[in-house]
Amino acid sequence: MWEDSLAAIGDEPASISLDEYASRQNRLFGQLKGSDLIIITNPKESVRSNDVHYHFRSSSDMLYLTGWKDPESTFCAYQREGKWIRTLFVQPKDVLKEIWEGRRPGIEGAVEEWPVDEAYSIHDLEEKLSEMLVQCSRVFVKLGVDDTVDKVVENEVKRNSRERQKFGTGPMSIVDPSPLVNELRLRKSESEIALMRHSAKIASQAHIQAMSNTKPGVGEWQLEGIIEGLFKYCNTDGISYPCIIGSGENATILHYNVNNDTCNDGEVILIDAGCEFDGYASDITRSWPVNGKFTPEQAEIYNIVLDAQLAAIDKCRVGNPYDAPHNEARKVLAEGLIRIGVIKQSLDDALSTDGELSNWYMHGTGHWLGLDVHDVGVYRPNDKPRVFEEGMVITVEPGLYFGAWRPDVDCPKKYSNLGIRIEDDVLVTIHGPDVLSRDCPKTIADIEAIVGRA
Ligand code: GLY
Ligand code: MN
Ligand code: MN
Repeated sequence: MWEDSLAAIGDEPASISLDEYASRQNRLFGQLKGSDLIIITNPKESVRSNDVHYHFRSSSDMLYLTGWKDPESTFCAYQREGKWIRTLFVQPKDVLKEIWEGRRPGIEGAVEEWPVDEAYSIHDLEEKLSEMLVQCSRVFVKLGVDDTVDKVVENEVKRNSRERQKFGTGPMSIVDPSPLVNELRLRKSESEIALMRHSAKIASQAHIQAMSNTKPGVGEWQLEGIIEGLFKYCNTDGISYPCIIGSGENATILHYNVNNDTCNDGEVILIDAGCEFDGYASDITRSWPVNGKFTPEQAEIYNIVLDAQLAAIDKCRVGNPYDAPHNEARKVLAEGLIRIGVIKQSLDDALSTDGELSNWYMHGTGHWLGLDVHDVGVYRPNDKPRVFEEGMVITVEPGLYFGAWRPDVDCPKKYSNLGIRIEDDVLVTIHGPDVLSRDCPKTIADIEAIVGRA
């Protein structure tokens, strides 16, 4: 059905290798002391309708360090005689459970096929974790993810405050490991980039299929069905966030995701949709006319946003501060709106905190992208803007939103209920910006050639 899309996407890249997981772990261990214990835990499964499980997704730190995707699991690592021992607590094999819920790698499978030295049943977590805690002096754990882990860690720390005097061992401090892991996750390896490029190629094809199937009268939900269907067809883990599919005034609501309206002739539709391939997210937005032809007013605004986006992408270069694309996008948007008479202030005034640009452009221009759609990594370490390095991936997503329904602004009639955003996923390389989502059309001519052609 979608053979052309499959052909354009190409072969699936390799998964992350065991060697790469080991090297990620070793880079983390290199920042720890011999008496540290690190714990990465998965959240409990969520349930709806009494006994129906939501689709489980491992925590991104668990995926990053081990690739383990099943629920009820915890990763721990500690040193013995100068060697780091990596342990995974998992659901044990259980024929009855597997008949009902599906296959489990179990303890044996975890040791054989995952990057760990030993594995135990998750049912032994409290006992084994207590033993590990007694022997460590700092425990790196993110509290609030799993109450069993929280309880054991808290108890050991409390007990230790009483008994340390006697035995001289046991945890003295609890440290959040996120800053250490996040710094590693911020710079993507070659294999991560291949997975992210694949994810972006699939999301690009989903947008192309949605464009092709757009015509007056189509439901936003029907385009959502096509997009999510293609994500599944292409062997992804599904959406990386709920699709935003808004036509007409819905396009001026930034996180509109009820997607239950009909697309009407004369409106512009905005679709923000991305998938997860092997855990890695894509995040693409395109905006196009429902009837396949931009009006001159729609084209005027579209081209201002496109100019801003291209100028911002060009700022995604090694050595530039992370907010250079945002500042550039704001400048080009403000210049455009001044040129067409929407903004009557000077450029400096329009760009100031409460200047007129913020009436029509009220969000940031991008965020890190990786295992999470809004990926980890501090933007302003020590309150100075992070400088782009090779291997960082950031989205570039300027927009303009003229919601005529808003009581707080006087919306220009010509552009009434027009919402445009253009979003791509950009890899920073030593050769300049590499747009991972480049297969997704964005010039007016390319878009008009596709809309409604299905
Ligand atoms: N899709 C959410 C975002 O663009 O940040
Ligand atoms: Mn987006
Ligand atoms: Mn985004």
